[in-house]
Amino acid sequence: MVRGWVYDRTDKGKLQFIQVRDGSGIVQCVAYKPDMDEATFETASKLTQESSVIVSGTVKVNEKAKKSIPAGYEIGIQGLQLVQMAEEYPITPKEHGVEFLMDNRHLWVRSLRQWAILRIRATLARALTEWLDDHGYLRVDTPILTPAAGEETTTLFSIDYFGESAYLSQTGQLYNEANMMAFGKVYTFSPSFRAEKSKTRRHLMEFWHLEPEVAFMSLEEMMDVEEQLLSYAVSRIMDKHQHELAIIERDLGKLESIKAPFARITYDEAVERLKALAAQTDDPEQKQLLQIEWGEDFGSPHETAIAEQFDRPVFVYHYPSAIKAFYMQPVDGRPEVCRSVDLLAPEGYGEITGGSERIYDPALIDQRIETIGITREAYAWYLDLRKYGSVPHAGFGLGLERTVTWICGLPHVREAIPYARMLNRKYP
Ligand code: 4AD
Ligand code: MG
Repeated sequence: MVRGWVYDRTDKGKLQFIQVRDGSGIVQCVAYKPDMDEATFETASKLTQESSVIVSGTVKVNEKAKKSIPAGYEIGIQGLQLVQMAEEYPITPKEHGVEFLMDNRHLWVRSLRQWAILRIRATLARALTEWLDDHGYLRVDTPILTPAAGEETTTLFSIDYFGESAYLSQTGQLYNEANMMAFGKVYTFSPSFRAEKSKTRRHLMEFWHLEPEVAFMSLEEMMDVEEQLLSYAVSRIMDKHQHELAIIERDLGKLESIKAPFARITYDEAVERLKALAAQTDDPEQKQLLQIEWGEDFGSPHETAIAEQFDRPVFVYHYPSAIKAFYMQPVDGRPEVCRSVDLLAPEGYGEITGGSERIYDPALIDQRIETIGITREAYAWYLDLRKYGSVPHAGFGLGLERTVTWICGLPHVREAIPYARMLNRKYP
């Protein structure tokens, strides 16, 4: 028995080929007129797209059942119960514009490609947390309603908290730092919010953020963790989702090379590489895009050009302190750069993780908080962490949707989350 929805139907007179999806896959169900009573066949031959049905019959192996997932099986219908005949369904097999599909996201999630992507997303989330759970990390949840900024104050969503202002969390990091002092190795996995007026294919207002934080960990050890974590997650997806990867036509060769170790280059070297690339190219537009001076942050053309030189993600570390967050530990003897690292995905997908060693010296963190002009009272608890057994520590944040976008090879981050929140979209 299959309970589900009619994905598609092909009418061949006495034969009706009905693709029924049950959420976990699709099976071709065949109604053959001589095998059933007239009323049942009549119903079968009228089924509209997305009508809900309960089908019973005999499962058969049939190589020609190519639309089934898994392929090669079909059901010879004996009983057919119509649960509801669906009204004319807005999403038909013809091409639709993306805005139309996003307006109908609540229905679009039923389409094969979206189904495949969201299943891969679920496995990614599971594999990432599984790896951390198996390596001694404790999941400790952090609040979403927060009294102060965790990252840049310019991207805060503020809300009215009984007459006071509160903000939607941009990161669980600061609380992770408190938790790491209690549990050693922790992570948080929850939505983060960024009120960024950017319309790029990488930005969401609400994204799922996986953030590990570890006591006594160095930047180099953290890179080891990141590359192992991602290699594991990609291999889990390759093992489990051959069907889904085929549906989205992902180039598997690109995923097969995602294995630790990943290349590690400094920001200085990345700038040198960009300068060399800009000098080599004959294309004036590209030359312009690749322009960079030491001290400037990378834009997406820079990230793409650097990443293109590698077949797997590449770590760029020791960024200029001036373009990174207040809490990042300066490099010994060279305070103009900090112990930070971003992981850039291949194929132009840009930054998927960002992290650092944190400042643990009480005087230095105090001074940093002063210089960025945030109120000390709001951070009193954070400063406490540097008073009571402060230790070197490090952590990073991985954006789930950016990682899904890269693993699935999607054109835009909006398809990597069930209901995207973007500059011009909060419906449905
Ligand atoms: O680099 P970010 O801003 O770092 C932090 O928030 C740190 N506090 C994390 C930490 O060290 N615990 O964000 C981390 C990652 C990015 O690399 C990116 O993958 C994702 O979060 N991200 C976004 N994803 C989608 N839309 C946005 N607007 C995002 N902003 C960040
Ligand atoms: Mg970042």
